[in-house]
Amino acid sequence: MASRICDSVLVTGSNRGIGLELVRQLVDSPTPPVQIFAGCRDPNGQRSQDLQELAQKHRDVITVVQLDTTSPTSIAEASKLVETKLKGKGLNLIINNAGVNIPGSLAETGKQEMVDVYTTNVVGPMLIAKDFHPLLCKAAAQFPHQTSMSCSRSAIINVSTLLSSITTCPENFSVSPMYPYRVSKAALNMLTRCLAEDLKKDGILVMSLHPGWVQTEMGGPKAPLTTAESISGMMKVITSLTEKDTGTLLDWEGKNIPW
Ligand SMILES: NC(=O)c1ccc[n+]([C@@H]2O[C@H](COP(=O)([O-])OP(=O)(O)OC[C@H]3O[C@@H](n4cnc5c(N)ncnc54)[C@H](OP(=O)(O)O)[C@@H]3O)[C@@H](O)[C@H]2O)c1
Repeated sequence: MASRICDSVLVTGSNRGIGLELVRQLVDSPTPPVQIFAGCRDPNGQRSQDLQELAQKHRDVITVVQLDTTSPTSIAEASKLVETKLKGKGLNLIINNAGVNIPGSLAETGKQEMVDVYTTNVVGPMLIAKDFHPLLCKAAAQFPHQTSMSCSRSAIINVSTLLSSITTCPENFSVSPMYPYRVSKAALNMLTRCLAEDLKKDGILVMSLHPGWVQTEMGGPKAPLTTAESISGMMKVITSLTEKDTGTLLDWEGKNIPW
């Protein structure tokens, strides 16, 4: 029997695109998590209907949680709700998937564009790590193999992108200039590195994961990967992560991306 990815997981931005498919594949896996917390900013809105239907079908496993990653209040309230639902247990895994992209050349990009994208893509994951840290610590402490690191024990995965790579920027800048997005995701990678160093002592693995170029609203119809293909690769990577992977940037096939 395949081993369970983890007992409990929170996925942000799970009402559509990559986040929704993550929840779908997690719940459909041979041994699904006991609890999946599906974060989305507008649970009752039109854009959340597919998620609500999925949650209805798997009422015992999926809890839809109001979670706007730009709102410190929403993050704090979501952490309290998750804590209550876990009934004394820790939270094993957080997938910081919610993200925005405002395509922006130099001419198109102003202060507001930079700040808005940074707020969602960097400040959100930072505050989520901070508010959920006690629950991640609790999960790590409850794990039988106290020295190992894994997503089944305690981990944060920040969904990043190849476009965050400073090294590969000259190869792909002209195709997708995107100042706010690239800069924010490079900052998200630094958040990954800082958290990986900081939370090592607690047994919490932290890494950045690039899903590939995927057919979603953000990725557009020309992307080569379906969400199903990308997420099935991501799931294999997620299950295989160990302490050697903390503080790294990998793609959906497990290949290392240079910073
Ligand atoms: N698609 C690609 O090719 C690609 C490539 C590399 C990396 N990524 C990364 O993968 C992640 C998911 O992207 P995607 O392609 O699935 O994008 P998408 O189709 O545009 O979906 C984005 C998701 O993030 C949510 N979100 C945005 N702002 C939020 C906020 N403040 N609070 C909570 N949720 C929020 C959206 O919710 P609403 O419905 O409420 O807007 C939606 O669920 C992103 O981090 C993105 O940067 C995507």
